[in-house]
Parts: sequence; structure tokens; C-alpha cells
Amino acid sequence: MKTEESIVEEAVQLLEKSIIYYQGRPVGTVAACDPEVEALNYDQCFIRDFVSSGLFFIIKGRADIVRNFLEETLKLQPKQKQLDSSKPGRGLIPASFKVETVNGQERLKADFGEHAIARVAPVDSCLWWMILLRAYVNSTKDTSLAYREDFQEGIRLILELCLVSRFDMYPTLLVPDGSSMIDRRMGLYGYPLDIQSLFYAGLWAAHELLYPNKENQYFIKVLGSRLDSLIKHIRENYWIDTERLNVIYRYKVEEYGEHALNEFNLYSDSIPFYKLTEWLPKSGGYLAGNLGPSQIDCRFFALGNLMAIISSLTDKQQSQAILNLIEERWDNLVGDMPLKICYPALEDLEWKLLTGCDPKNRAWSYHNGGNWPVLLWMFAAAVQKMGRTDIGHKAIQIAEKRLSKDDWPEYYDGKNGRLIGKEARKYQTWSITGYLLAKEIMANPKHLKLVSFHEYP
Ligand code: GLC
Repeated sequence: MKTEESIVEEAVQLLEKSIIYYQGRPVGTVAACDPEVEALNYDQCFIRDFVSSGLFFIIKGRADIVRNFLEETLKLQPKQKQLDSSKPGRGLIPASFKVETVNGQERLKADFGEHAIARVAPVDSCLWWMILLRAYVNSTKDTSLAYREDFQEGIRLILELCLVSRFDMYPTLLVPDGSSMIDRRMGLYGYPLDIQSLFYAGLWAAHELLYPNKENQYFIKVLGSRLDSLIKHIRENYWIDTERLNVIYRYKVEEYGEHALNEFNLYSDSIPFYKLTEWLPKSGGYLAGNLGPSQIDCRFFALGNLMAIISSLTDKQQSQAILNLIEERWDNLVGDMPLKICYPALEDLEWKLLTGCDPKNRAWSYHNGGNWPVLLWMFAAAVQKMGRTDIGHKAIQIAEKRLSKDDWPEYYDGKNGRLIGKEARKYQTWSITGYLLAKEIMANPKHLKLVSFHEYP
């Protein structure tokens, strides 16, 4: 059995090998370095995957890599308004990028989803980008980078993209299926929690990063009111616990007008009350996976719930209740590898209809109920924030038993996460950094400030 120190050392060496250089400067990390499988796009630097690498680099005094990453990805952001559907929209940050050599010259080539499997749009990239920029500024105190005109413009363009054109009347962000870490069809069209938590944290970051001048005044004002309505909406309407279930169970339907209690016209029959009341511990609760017209998705999504705790999107009581749920349903949500990406899995007809019969996303595999080591750092940050470090240490010990032995797989399969993912790559960078970062956050609570937000006043 390897010692804890040797596992960390191995992880650090693997991370070093994953670094991408551009014109001699380190600018990112590849998604995976599995020598046995065709790379597809895993040899690229994904924005979302780099976040855990970036945070770890900052902690280790290598914030320059993060600065390079932020500068280069900002250059890839389209700045011009255009109506050509084959071009990425103004303000978008790509899903991933790679270094190409053309006529002996290196250049960065971005993928905004136009090459990605199923051509999915990376809505989360621009939100993670702002979250990482804020972490960089908070830690290095290098406000001059964020206040540079190109960065201020980049932030404004992201805000325009997210806030200006809308076809709906909700404070949440309307997105297509597959627009975040779960980048395949999984029944997440609409207002999925994973995006909403990042949206909240991203807006909060923008609020802190925008320089208070005349040009930004309007954005700062709008951000304030959007954050207010977003937090209220999520805390009230996404929340599921026994008390809320009792309210929803007896909802009236087809109400019109301002005084409707069942605002989203949820039909009781669509909610698996009996399963849920058995599964939900009395002290537990969580934010629903999605909320839209006559739809509340009662699946538990780890990223959305953990990021909600980290960003104070949930209140203190709710945050504790989410951690109670994870602790009491440990076998379901942690099992043999922290953490389950979503619970429960879609099975049979639901799997057919909602994933389009996606064989990679069969029940209890990959995005559909697989266990993802990268989520460990978010769990560590959430428990550190809420003073529940005992369960954080327990989760790390579980991960330590397998990660290095199994060559750092991308994900695990099975109800309890005991199988190495059917098509999981090995030496997946964010599995490595998810572990390393979790260890750092558990060892030193001061690192929490990189990602944590206090409550919006
Ligand atoms: C898969 C994951 C996605 C990740 C990418 C690179 O497509 O679903 O979240 O960014 O691999 O690791």
C-alpha cells in the first residue's frame, strides 16, 4: 500500500506532466494523459477542468500559470456582435483550446462547441472563468489584472451574454441540455441547478471584479438586483425537504395571477413522493436538479448543491441540511468513491427518453449516476465552510484507497462507485487535482477564501 505522501507526490508529478505550454509559457493543463486511448479532445485544455488545476497552482505559489490562462482564454472570447449562427456568440468563453502549429508559428485554437460531441454549448465556461479570475485576484491581490480594460470588457461581455437577451421571466439562466460538466443529453434542458449555482457564483464574482466607474455603474446595479432575485428564487423554489414536500404534495394547480402559490404549476403526480419521503432523512434537504414550467426534477446533483454551499447561495440551515443528507445517505452519494455526480440514475424508459438511448450514460455510469473524483474538492470546500471536516477527511481517505492504484480514472461506475468507469480515461487531470486541492483545503481553511463567498447583503 502506498503512503499518503507518495500518493500526493505522484499526483503532483502527473499534474506537472499535464501542463500545456504556449510560446514558452505555461497556459493550461490537458484534460487527460491516457497513453492507451485515442485522445479525441482530451489533449485539450478544458476551461472547467482547468479550474481545479488553477486553484491548486495558486495555492502552490504558481499563480502565473493562472494569469497566463486567464489572459489567453480572454483573447479567444469573440468581441464582435454578429448574427452568423456558425460563429460563437459575442462574450462566449470556449469549452476548450489547444496549441496548434501553423507554418512554424504556434497559435491557440478554441472549441466553442462546434467540434464537441453533439455540438454542445459550454455555458459554464464563462462562469468558471469569472470565478477563477476572482480567486486569482483574491489570492494575489493583483487587482490591476482584473481592472485592465480588456478584462473589464470581457466581464461586461459575459454579463451581456447572460443577462440581456431572454425569452423567459425567471431570474435563473435558461440553457440547453449538456451545457456544463454534464455535456451530453441528460434531461437537463431549462434551468439546471449545476448551471444556476455557477451563475450565482459567477455574478457574485463579476460584482466584486467590476471597477466602480461610470461605464460599469449600470451593470453593477443590475447585478445587485439579479443576485437578490436569484437567491430568493433558488432558496424558496428549488429547496426540497420534508416540510417542502408536504407543501408541494397538497398544492392546488392551474392558478393564475400574482397570488398563485404553486407558481410553476407543479403536478403532484410528477413527483416520486413515496420514494423521496423514504430516502430523505428528517434532518436532510437539498436543491432540486431543475425547475421549470410544470417540472421539478428531484434528482440530487452534487456540483450544484456543493457550489451552492460554497457560494452561500443556500442559507446556513440549508447548507447544513445538504451535508446531513450526504452524511446520512453516504452509501448512495459517496460509496466507494466520492462523489456521485447525480442521484438516482435514469433507468429504462426514462433513460431512453431523456438521454436518447446514450450507451455511455447507461444507468449508474458516467454522467448518469457515476462517481467523479473531481467533486471531492467541492465537497472539501463545503464541509470546511460549514465546520463538518470529519466527513471531509473520511471522504479523502476513501478516495486515497483507490485513486492512485486505479491510475486516476475520470469516473467510477455502479451504484456504490466500485467499478472503474467503463470508458473512463486514466490519468485524468481533474481527478488528480480534485484530490490534491481537497487535501489542501482540508489542511488549511484559509484556502477556502479562494472559492467561498459570503452571503449577498
Ligand atoms: C467529458 C466531461 C466534461 C469534461 C471533459 C474533459 O466530456 O463530461 O465535463 O470537461 O470530459 O475532461
